[in-house]
Amino acid sequence: MKKIAVFASGNGSNFQVIAEEFPVEFVFSDHRDAYVLERADKLGVLSYAFELKEFESKVDYEAALVELLEEHQIDLICLAGYMKIVGPTLLAAYEGRIVNIHPAYLPEFPGAHGIEDAWNAGVAESGVTIHWVDSGVDTGKVIKQVRVPRLADDTIASFEARIHATEYQIYPQVLESLGVGRR
Ligand code: GRF
Repeated sequence: MKKIAVFASGNGSNFQVIAEEFPVEFVFSDHRDAYVLERADKLGVLSYAFELKEFESKVDYEAALVELLEEHQIDLICLAGYMKIVGPTLLAAYEGRIVNIHPAYLPEFPGAHGIEDAWNAGVAESGVTIHWVDSGVDTGKVIKQVRVPRLADDTIASFEARIHATEYQIYPQVLESLGVGRR
């Protein structure tokens, strides 16, 4: 049975979808006040939170993460709104075992504002991508990506909602395809 950890920095709606369908060993947040931690409590999922600024360096911060991951014998890290670039320390320990979800059709609109950037560019369609994490920003090998249309009467809110609904469909599909067992 593959053991997964989810990393999230804020809202945690993707974490919630994952945790409802799969056993999550723990969720980690790099913000102590992130809403994802409340979701974890309600779902009875173990959570950890600590912040980069509490460490001397990003190397030390990621070393603490690696320790936690190894202690729990995690096989796969699922980034879901984790707003930090994965650095060399975490990558050295887990490269090939970290997946990320991005709310655009990579390589289109990488970075922190994929939905807004696609909207502002006026595209007729954007999408969702799940990919392996490498040292770049949203550059790793694609596992699955699907198109999401922008409709004529969309607002950015309705467009965003359609992107998120797509995320909630495909993250579980990808985890299953990677051999993560459902509840
Ligand atoms: C999602 O759109 C995800 O693709 C992006 O950050 C957002 C996180 O949303 N990386 P949530 O925290 O899962 O609600």
